[in-house]
Amino acid sequence: MFTEMDKNKVLKHKPCFVSFATQKGGAGKTTLTILVAGMAHYVYGYNVAVIDCDEHQYSLSRMRERDNSIVYKSETLRRIASDQFLTHHKASYPVVGTKVVDAHDIASGLKQADGSDYDLIFFDVQGSAGTTGWISLLASMDYIFLPFVPDMLNIESTEQTMKVLKYLVESGESKTVLSAFWNKIDIRERKDMIELGNTIIRELDVNVMSTMLPMLSRYHDKLTGTTTKNDVFMCTLLSPTNNLLKDSCIEELCEEMFKIMWHN
Ligand SMILES: Nc1ncnc2c1ncn2[C@@H]1O[C@H](COP(=O)(O)OP(=O)(O)OP(=O)(O)O)[C@@H](O)[C@H]1O
Ligand SMILES: [Mg+2]
Repeated sequence: MFTEMDKNKVLKHKPCFVSFATQKGGAGKTTLTILVAGMAHYVYGYNVAVIDCDEHQYSLSRMRERDNSIVYKSETLRRIASDQFLTHHKASYPVVGTKVVDAHDIASGLKQADGSDYDLIFFDVQGSAGTTGWISLLASMDYIFLPFVPDMLNIESTEQTMKVLKYLVESGESKTVLSAFWNKIDIRERKDMIELGNTIIRELDVNVMSTMLPMLSRYHDKLTGTTTKNDVFMCTLLSPTNNLLKDSCIEELCEEMFKIMWHN
């Protein structure tokens, strides 16, 4: 956990625009936005907003609606949410749905209730490179984290996204800091793919993060009417329990991301 002094290192960049990005569908962009935004807001204490600009699915906004109605109906979950609120003094982070083309302006005008800036604004951007405004939106991020999944199609697709973004940075059209990391891995099986991917990433002179996220079945544990706290991993209103965080490397990912944000 970060000290108050560490936390201030992020504040000098605020509001900080952050996105997980790859044109490849299913690499974990929405999932990791929910987990990292939730950890940053509910656990690490940053003031977070999420812009859902996945205009084909709005899956994050729909998940927030679902989570709200499930928590509202369940006495147990209401108590857990209220305990979390009392412990961290944080209401839920806002989720704002918008088209890709409007996302940057909407985020730039977003303020907290007291008129101050958010610390971190996460953008959930769909994979489709053909969407109007897709590349301009990504180019306007402060930090982009590219999830690589160890299979050939995924690596090639994310490599393409990385090349375009890298070109924009080198030509001075974007100041985005790019970092790549591995998601959905089983090191024993996919070592060759990871080595190949790392070579590709390093040839483009992009930082490969040391955190690697394992493939875990708990990613499919969404909130349902019968959920108890011990079951919740994926939720926009509650942070995952320590038990479920264990072995997921989500805390390691958050801490490595924050360090990149402080130092670049
Ligand atoms: N580390 C992981 N282990 C197991 N499942 C994972 C992991 N990361 C993501 N997933 C699962 O992969 C699926 C796709 O993830 P997600 O919807 O976040 O992808 P996406 O990049 O947002 O795709 P799209 O471009 O279509 O929006 C989800 O069912 C999610 O739960
Ligand atoms: Mg998505």
